[in-house]
Amino acid sequence: MNKIKIKESKTIGHINPKLHSQFIEFLGSCIYDGIWVGENSEIPNYNGMRKDVVDGLKELAPPVIRWPGGCYADTYHWRDGIGPREDRPITYNENFGTFTQDKNQFGTHEFMELCRRVGAEPWLNVNMMTGSAGEMREWMEYCNREEDTTLSSERAKNGSKKAFQVKYWGIGNESWCGGGNATAESYADVYRQYASAIPLFHSGMPGHENEKILRIACGPDGNRSKERVEWTGRLFQALKNFRQPPLDALDLHFYNWNITNLKEKEDEFEGADWYRVINSCLKLEEVILEQKQLIEEGLDSFEKPEVMSADHFDSPPKCRLVVGEWGNWHGMAFQSKPALYQQCSMRDAITSALTLDIFHRNCSHVEMACVAQTVNVLNSLFLTKGKEFVKTPNYDVFKMYMVHRDASAIECECEEENTSEEGRLFIFASIKDHIINFNVINTDFKKEKEACIQFEKNAALEEVTVLNADSPKACNTFQNPDRVRAKSGQNLVKAGKNPVNEWRNPINAGKEYQVVIPPASVSVYRFRQED
Ligand code: AHR
Repeated sequence: MNKIKIKESKTIGHINPKLHSQFIEFLGSCIYDGIWVGENSEIPNYNGMRKDVVDGLKELAPPVIRWPGGCYADTYHWRDGIGPREDRPITYNENFGTFTQDKNQFGTHEFMELCRRVGAEPWLNVNMMTGSAGEMREWMEYCNREEDTTLSSERAKNGSKKAFQVKYWGIGNESWCGGGNATAESYADVYRQYASAIPLFHSGMPGHENEKILRIACGPDGNRSKERVEWTGRLFQALKNFRQPPLDALDLHFYNWNITNLKEKEDEFEGADWYRVINSCLKLEEVILEQKQLIEEGLDSFEKPEVMSADHFDSPPKCRLVVGEWGNWHGMAFQSKPALYQQCSMRDAITSALTLDIFHRNCSHVEMACVAQTVNVLNSLFLTKGKEFVKTPNYDVFKMYMVHRDASAIECECEEENTSEEGRLFIFASIKDHIINFNVINTDFKKEKEACIQFEKNAALEEVTVLNADSPKACNTFQNPDRVRAKSGQNLVKAGKNPVNEWRNPINAGKEYQVVIPPASVSVYRFRQED
């Protein structure tokens, strides 16, 4: 019998809701068709933004949305996307084979409106490759300046008297590749200039504590084991000498590449392909721990300033780790039209759940994470095509996992009877206000698994939500939009052969529950802790 021990008295850390954030950019049909259809479209919209996607996002209340990229950010000039839409310049988008005109209809104001409608905080990524520190500073002034200036008046004229108060600013994107093929040293030199050009606004002034700007530097390519160690190590080395610019966070990107067979369809695969993709997403945990260590070592190597001043050097420097892009990237996506469009099957839902649980477990090390990308690109939550709209199984995972936001992660252990690479149980649990939410992911392609869940104290089972399908390859299509959908209710969980107590009845709380977990499934159990 598999044994799951939940140690509800042992907390690991606070689960930052920002671990459930989103990423969008003009690539393929993520923005145009996926979010923006224009006010005159037949597709129901809020001021040009499609209702189905905005409403779907609102249900998930994404804490942060990152935009305009991605690689797109590295050639994006923010001025092209403000002012009357009919007057905006037309450029050409080559991003990952998007190959289409860019009429710049979705710009700063449209993005801010999207964030406001869905309750998200904006993360803007600045153009460090074809832009300049001056252009970045002006964008910041345009967005955040409250006092009357030419730029803040222009913002007001364009529809927002109120400053947007954007807190998160990414400085460059993947500068080691599409963002300029930089070395850690050359990036560090340019970063010094950008980070120093950021206006102070009211930072540190009473009543403005939340208006602090967070500078997010380009972190490494999480998929290159040698390069990523060099990038982070050498970046800190390069920043170590002379005075250090403020550096609030490092943005690591990690994709779960599935490119051994470029012809493999995202929803047509065999057991070996299932396990390969599932097992490779787990690598991220190692990368997080390694990067956290490198950041700590890097910060430790900074010498105390020769003369103490009233600026940030007074307190020991801190640099958080964020994961600005993550998700499955199937080989087929390279041939897709629109660019990087992927279907999402139960396999993607499983890896999304495993990845979010990696963030949850490492909540003391990772501050924020954005899935790549929200609509129509890679590991999406929504797919659209004209009037058609569908929520992928990834949407269900994000929805089910909302219960963990702002809770405390707790220790739990799984002693499995069979610990082969194939078909394992992965678990995570959190506690908040005496409610324990416990996730279990059965990665077995075919077989259900029986497990005994044990608590330290009595707990009553209140609800179970299960995401699974008639086949592990199943996905939601425009023709069959709800083939894979999470279902809730206690009756969804079969009791094991020898149930220890009457667990179906929440009144009879117990310390042990014997359950059967369906194959290829993600389940969230809600227990109420008894005194
Ligand atoms: O998410 C797709 C692309 O992947 C992004 O534009 C880029 O940052 C990364 O390489």
